[in-house]
Amino acid sequence: MSLNQKVILVTGGAKRIGRSIALALAAEGARVAIHYGESEAEARQTAKECGGAPVFQADLESVAEIRALFDRVAQHFGTLDGLVNNAARFTRFDPLAIEEGDWDFIHSVNLKSVFFCCQAAAKIMLAADGGHIVNISSLGALKPWAHHAHYCASKAGVVMLTKALAKAWAPQISVNTVAPGVIPFDKTDERIERFISATPAGRAGTGNEVALAVLGFLRASRFTTGQLMAVDGGLSLR
Ligand SMILES: NC(=O)c1ccc[n+]([C@@H]2O[C@H](COP(=O)([O-])OP(=O)(O)OC[C@H]3O[C@@H](n4cnc5c(N)ncnc54)[C@H](OP(=O)(O)O)[C@@H]3O)[C@@H](O)[C@H]2O)c1
Repeated sequence: MSLNQKVILVTGGAKRIGRSIALALAAEGARVAIHYGESEAEARQTAKECGGAPVFQADLESVAEIRALFDRVAQHFGTLDGLVNNAARFTRFDPLAIEEGDWDFIHSVNLKSVFFCCQAAAKIMLAADGGHIVNISSLGALKPWAHHAHYCASKAGVVMLTKALAKAWAPQISVNTVAPGVIPFDKTDERIERFISATPAGRAGTGNEVALAVLGFLRASRFTTGQLMAVDGGLSLR
């Protein structure tokens, strides 16, 4: 499927992987909607580089704000062909030290908001010609990281959510997930360097490499659904 003129919303599209996805979509001729939470200046810069894409602010912790976000996107474009659930949080804690607020901080965005974004998108897509959803999960959904138990659980939840929603909304909507490995944007520390040296590809990945996998699912026929593609240089095979 050509992405030319398709309307695709990218959550957390201002920076890093989300920005790479937005730029790659725009390069394919898609009409990109860029969501951001707090990074307004970066979102506007990415939008400019996407040929003047509209930006939409929403705190994804709030289901009311998620619903208002999709209303605004649908009002702006009159349709929605694709959704990339990229926004997420990442924290590190000894599991014995995690408090309720620390757990909710991660799960409210990484899992709960992904579900309600999928639901809001599906209501628009099912009333029209259907669509494509891609959820960004993580290598942490596939491999247990002791000091990220809360994060790993949220991303494993995204993988199962992807499968369950793929079943719920077939054949009109495909729902797939891309699981990035190590995709650094800042200076790497010793821990990240250890991950990189364990990667069979012998290097870290790039935002654009994640974007290519996302584009693959968005372009695929809806017969491809409920699937996971790891973009991790083979690290999940260890
Ligand atoms: N980078 C990696 O190595 C790696 C590895 C595995 C998986 N991933 C996954 O890939 C995706 C992108 O990762 P990343 O490292 O590029 O991005 P990131 O910096 O972790 O987060 C992406 C964006 O999520 C948005 N966000 C977080 N909480 C939000 C909230 N409450 N409301 C609205 N927006 C919120 C932020 O937008 P604003 O800045 O606008 O607030 C942020 O820029 C994530 O799903 C991540 O879990 C990344």
